[in-house]
Amino acid sequence: MKLKSIFFWITFLMVHTFLLSSCQTAEKNDTKEESMKKLSLDEKVEALLSQMTLEEKVNMIHASSSFTSGGVERLGIPELTMSDGPHGVRHEHGRDWEKDSNVADSSTYLPVGTALAATWNPDLGYKFGTVLGSEAKFRGKDVILGPGLNIIRDPLNGRNFEYLTEDPYLNSRMVVGYIKGIQEQGVAACAKHYIANSLEYERQKVNVLMSDRAFREIYLPGFKAAVQEGKVLTIMSAYNKFRGVYCSHSGYLLDDVLKGELGFDGVVISDWNAVKNTMEAVTVGLDIEMGTDLTMFETGFDYGKFHMGDTVVTLVKNKVIDESLVDQKVRRILSVMHRIDKFDETKKQGAYNTKEHQQIAREIADEAIVLLKNEGVLPLKKENIKKISIVGANATHKHAGAGGSSQVKAFYEITPLAGLQNLLGDDVTIEHSQGYEIGKESKANQKLINEAVKSVKGADAAIYIGGGFHGFSDDWNDNSYDAEDHDKVNMMMPFDQDELLKAVLNANPNTIVVLMGGGPVDMRAWSKDAKAIVQAWYAGMEGGNALASVLFGETNPSGKLPMTFPAKLEDSPAHALAKYPDESLVIDHKEDIFVGYRYFDTYKVEPAFAFGHGLSYTTFEYKDLKVDKKDNVVTLSLEVINTGQRKGAEVVQVYVKDEESSLKRPEKELKAFKKVFLEAGDSTTIKIELKEDAFSYYDDTQKKWVLESGKYTIEVGSSSRDIRLIGEVEF
Ligand code: BGC
Repeated sequence: MKLKSIFFWITFLMVHTFLLSSCQTAEKNDTKEESMKKLSLDEKVEALLSQMTLEEKVNMIHASSSFTSGGVERLGIPELTMSDGPHGVRHEHGRDWEKDSNVADSSTYLPVGTALAATWNPDLGYKFGTVLGSEAKFRGKDVILGPGLNIIRDPLNGRNFEYLTEDPYLNSRMVVGYIKGIQEQGVAACAKHYIANSLEYERQKVNVLMSDRAFREIYLPGFKAAVQEGKVLTIMSAYNKFRGVYCSHSGYLLDDVLKGELGFDGVVISDWNAVKNTMEAVTVGLDIEMGTDLTMFETGFDYGKFHMGDTVVTLVKNKVIDESLVDQKVRRILSVMHRIDKFDETKKQGAYNTKEHQQIAREIADEAIVLLKNEGVLPLKKENIKKISIVGANATHKHAGAGGSSQVKAFYEITPLAGLQNLLGDDVTIEHSQGYEIGKESKANQKLINEAVKSVKGADAAIYIGGGFHGFSDDWNDNSYDAEDHDKVNMMMPFDQDELLKAVLNANPNTIVVLMGGGPVDMRAWSKDAKAIVQAWYAGMEGGNALASVLFGETNPSGKLPMTFPAKLEDSPAHALAKYPDESLVIDHKEDIFVGYRYFDTYKVEPAFAFGHGLSYTTFEYKDLKVDKKDNVVTLSLEVINTGQRKGAEVVQVYVKDEESSLKRPEKELKAFKKVFLEAGDSTTIKIELKEDAFSYYDDTQKKWVLESGKYTIEVGSSSRDIRLIGEVEF
């Protein structure tokens, strides 16, 4: 070896040894936290898990207070803190439901789920999520208990307002941004209630039956999108049974489908008190048992007595179950904690009740309001009005603080009357008459009706603001409220509003009817006489401003119904084909996949207002549909022109019909949509891709999705019943 090369190797070895030793010294000098940071997620989880006793692990898989699950102080593992959800961060409860009165816990009250879905604007889903996530983080919450993804199957479900839609595709599209918005803030979303909790009647006892096809085509897609596209970190298992087994005990639902097929790698949290049995829950994929048993208010709050509490320790010690079952659950919990940066002290603070959040609530409300009918009376013109008559208790009623677990202590709530006052200022005299009373036993009251009639007769314009409300907790069973743990008794508006509305429309046929609520009401008694009907949902803290803006044309309405409005209850498939559950406690989904418009359109039942329907103050023309197919991907292109006088937004909806199916399929199914914003006179060309899944159905017998060869019709329209262009494609 030459001298030069010997010299090279000696120098190389010296430098190498120096570098190695300095790295080792650095490692020795690293704090425990710094070395933790260098580990992979799995290594971090294992590092903690390996130090935990069995008791400590079990403490993590059940509640430790009404909205926390246990931590391990010794190892610096905090409790996991949760809050409802889904349209605002709920007020504080102390640890065990004693109200915290001295804390700043008001929050941004966002429009409810049905209102969000009525925007048909996934970008707003994302913004909605960022507000929720940011406020939850500010309030120290790790998990926000929403979105609610149950399919709106029955107009009587008291909780429809918390959910999004009757359609699995719209459900899937709205939820992805919603979840990402929350989780990008370092807070876990919780998609609930998995699965088929589509009625509140005896929700802790009923057994839901449905075909595999309905499960796959209608009820699962929202959760699938939440898991696979939204990467949701937690899922809440529902109260009800599914095919005879409680959802929280179901190995099929939790292990085979959710964690197996869908690849869910987060935490399954039970609905509050949904767990009924230790062995059934601990041996399946349920990770955390939550709830407060009512008896605890008498016997004390000993959370160790939970099904997944001390009993589990005993079962492991007696070798009835293996400790690895507990480990699997704790692993997931620790992993979610890491993924929301729970252990990171530098995690940024959220924001709370900001102008920006209120602005987002307003933006969503603006796009949520649906103009159902307009025979030339809207928008109102301020310059033509000296005196306006407002009738109805919902003009001044605040809705945020009721409805069950989704209640929000709103930082403020602009009622419709306040919104109109803000818009009209002092130039217009506003006269408000109650018309009806929101009260327990309240019925049509002739004195109030007479006042309202007099008021609308003597005004330049009149607006009726009525519809639903969230009910009283001590009066669950005798009226049609939008509230948890309660279904409506019928589709009629509460407090005999039909009587009042008939009298008001008779006195002033130009009265504009505004309905608040979570879904459809029976309008047959008066709708023919109304020239304008507006669906205003529960549109959040800025709802009143948004409504005034729509009524006076400052906002051009662009909301579309995310559910069919049947003319009467008996027309709805859940009532026409099945029956509302009785003492048998079985909810058999006899309508199968024919939920909502899939039923109305296939079986030719005329709805009051169709799925996807919503008018505008401008007009849109659709033209030049081109359909192109390459490698089983269908590309559509078409032009949309704003042919009216105002700027506005249109939701272009794409429905697919299988013309030659070997199984009965719906008349049409929504497979794509796009909301476009256009100035008056402007046009745009839209391109939409439809992949194989847009044409496939789930075959129960083969247990798989099938794409059949044959002809498919593609219908493009402004609602499910206002189809403007038709194309064809062959597979
Ligand atoms: C509801 C859940 C809610 C939980 C906690 C349950 O009664 O069904 O949606 O998140 O309570 O309040």
